[in-house]
Amino acid sequence: MSTAELPEKHPAEGDGVEAALEAVYSWNYDSEIEELRTLYGNALERQWIGLRDLDWAREIDREAFSDTISIGGFPIQETAFWQRLAPETRWEISRRSAAFMLSNFLHGEQGALMVAAQLVNAVPHMDGKFYAATQTLDEARHVEVFAAYIRKLDEVHEIAPSLKTLLDGVLSTEDWMKKAVGMQVVTEGLALYSFRDMRNATREPLLKELLTYVSRDEARHTGYGIKYLNAVVPTLSDEEKAELEDFAYESARLLVDSRAGTSMRESVLGLWREVGIDPLEAMGELAKERDTIRAAIASRGGRRGPIRGFVIPTLRSIGLFSDRIRSHFDEMFTANLGPAYAGLDDDPELPEDLEAWVESA
Ligand SMILES: [Fe+2]
Ligand SMILES: [Fe+2]
Repeated sequence: MSTAELPEKHPAEGDGVEAALEAVYSWNYDSEIEELRTLYGNALERQWIGLRDLDWAREIDREAFSDTISIGGFPIQETAFWQRLAPETRWEISRRSAAFMLSNFLHGEQGALMVAAQLVNAVPHMDGKFYAATQTLDEARHVEVFAAYIRKLDEVHEIAPSLKTLLDGVLSTEDWMKKAVGMQVVTEGLALYSFRDMRNATREPLLKELLTYVSRDEARHTGYGIKYLNAVVPTLSDEEKAELEDFAYESARLLVDSRAGTSMRESVLGLWREVGIDPLEAMGELAKERDTIRAAIASRGGRRGPIRGFVIPTLRSIGLFSDRIRSHFDEMFTANLGPAYAGLDDDPELPEDLEAWVESA
């Protein structure tokens, strides 16, 4: 796509949001939150160069790609329905669905880039500013590599409206802790979980390599949110904690609640129509294979999805998961998935070493 075509789909001007923050000086240059200073050191050690360190000369391996991309964690590739489709149709569905998903990752990365830069200004500790500076560079690199991969695959899709609303909210809140909860915990947590999922599922070499590099960075970013909030949440009043919890819930809801009709999965189904498959008919066919699908999910150790599998355990670990907010999540999962999915007691503990977890299958 040439830059001359960009303004139509992605206005170069006029697409902005009033961003608020207080720029806070820190006159103490000594380390106050040691863990953040260590994380900053790790980030410096682990820099990489997107266009040099990945092998971009490789073509995308179509077969490996169609075979292993699952849609929103749904193991469609293992169904007879999928096997009956012509290879060309499988490739088109995989390519377009992945381009849609990756485009939203890309736009999310841009949001993360801008929020990280805001955090340099807004956080009150020098350790936090140092770390956010490295994250800003990481996110620029992520924007660069996702855009490059999508360019090889298809074209950049527009941002999903719910993701845009979420990013607007995080950019425009004045409270740095809300920015940290909305971006570092909820959005980055969801991204880390989804990148890891996609990384483990795909056999497409370039995508796997890209997601490995990006996920290592994201593990640090999530770690930043967890370590920083762990240090400050205990000092907050109950009211302040409740406000942060509400912000976390609202951010998560925007990303996964299908009741609004704007969830990612529904947008992906729209893409099926483009390749001549009626999503309703397809769903009917897939319903007949419920047992196969269940077995496929079970064989992968079950599927909780990013919110239950990662975001909620994170909120719990930083003390932002009261019974009050838990009931909101419960209600959302029940409405979306049915009562069988309610009850949030068996959710996993947060992995101790996030970087190691990213690369474990
Ligand atoms: Fe990122
Ligand atoms: Fe990130």
